[in-house]
Amino acid sequence: MSNKANMASMIVVVLAVVCLIPTVVHTKALWELECQPTVGIVGQPTVIRCHIKYSGDFEVVGVALKNVKQDNPVFQHIIKETPAGDPRFSLVNQGKDLSLQLSDTIFSDEGEYEYYVATNIGEKTAKLRISVTAKYRDPLTSSWPVNVTDGGPVDLYCNATEGYPAGTIHWFDQSGTNWTINSILTKAIKDTNGSKSVALSSKLTFKSIDSSLAPFRCVVLNSKCVKEGETTFQIMLKQGAEKEQSGSNTSNIVAGVMVIGSLTAGLLFALLFCRRKRIQNARRASTQPMLNKYYPGKTAEPDLEGDTETGTNLNKVSLEASTIAGMRN
Ligand SMILES: *[C@@H]1O[C@H](CO)[C@@H](O)[C@H](O)[C@H]1NC(C)=O
Ligand SMILES: *[C@@H]1O[C@H](CO)[C@@H](O)[C@H](O)[C@H]1NC(C)=O
Repeated sequence: MSNKANMASMIVVVLAVVCLIPTVVHTKALWELECQPTVGIVGQPTVIRCHIKYSGDFEVVGVALKNVKQDNPVFQHIIKETPAGDPRFSLVNQGKDLSLQLSDTIFSDEGEYEYYVATNIGEKTAKLRISVTAKYRDPLTSSWPVNVTDGGPVDLYCNATEGYPAGTIHWFDQSGTNWTINSILTKAIKDTNGSKSVALSSKLTFKSIDSSLAPFRCVVLNSKCVKEGETTFQIMLKQGAEKEQSGSNTSNIVAGVMVIGSLTAGLLFALLFCRRKRIQNARRASTQPMLNKYYPGKTAEPDLEGDTETGTNLNKVSLEASTIAGMRN
């Protein structure tokens, strides 16, 4: 085992020496062609950055770009001749910069390439990779049920489509608390005629939602975890339901009926008093405090006599009651 490993490393060393000798001898050929990995965005121009590392003067004869999976170059340009191949490519060629410009990036541009450069000081090939990404559309949000009951269950959805490669979705409430851990992300990969895209759908489930957490923010991140879009999501609360569950609906109605009932009774009472007052022509003092006593809080005037004249007021009340009874008969 170790013998084999030793042999292998010796072969590598020998090869390296053999390969290095010619370049060392022809110092003139000590130059490099360097290309950076390229990330293009679908539908946008992409620059494939390549340059020559060499301190002396040189002249470019021609360049060619070849996809490793294809036999013929996708683009080639012999200087002073018309470029050939895919017309979306062009050579920047400014001194040592031999970058290529791709005018309109498409998904099928993704792949491994070899960039070949011929100069008057020799020729070189550099490997490079073109990755293609697509931006996600602005996320769309929805909830199920559409009308949310405070304290009830709800699923919040945030969907982003047409992006590539697969990204992710994060959730935050109005105070910035991260709810992502409670969500489930679904990724659907679509490939139509080489045009790949991913549809992201994130579902954030609440068994019992606290509506004061809203509005929620859903953030779409691309495959490199860079934010690509976000949206604020205000949930729609069910009409009438405010703080409690559906049970409070009926109690609200009961309370309403009671308020309306007591108001009607009060109004009736007031009308009867007015009539009686007209009849008796204001022989008595104001009946207002008495009303206050009978319906606390329902009239605006303070109960001035209340504390000292409780007994009298109660007498008056019984008197009024008998009067009403008399009028009814
Ligand atoms: C998001 O996707 C989910 C699951 O496919 C779906 O139920 C929901 O209606 C979608 N919402 C929007 C706004 O597209
Ligand atoms: C939110 O939570 C998710 C999952 O737990 C995590 O990956 C992400 O980094 C968090 N984001 C922030 C801004 O804290």
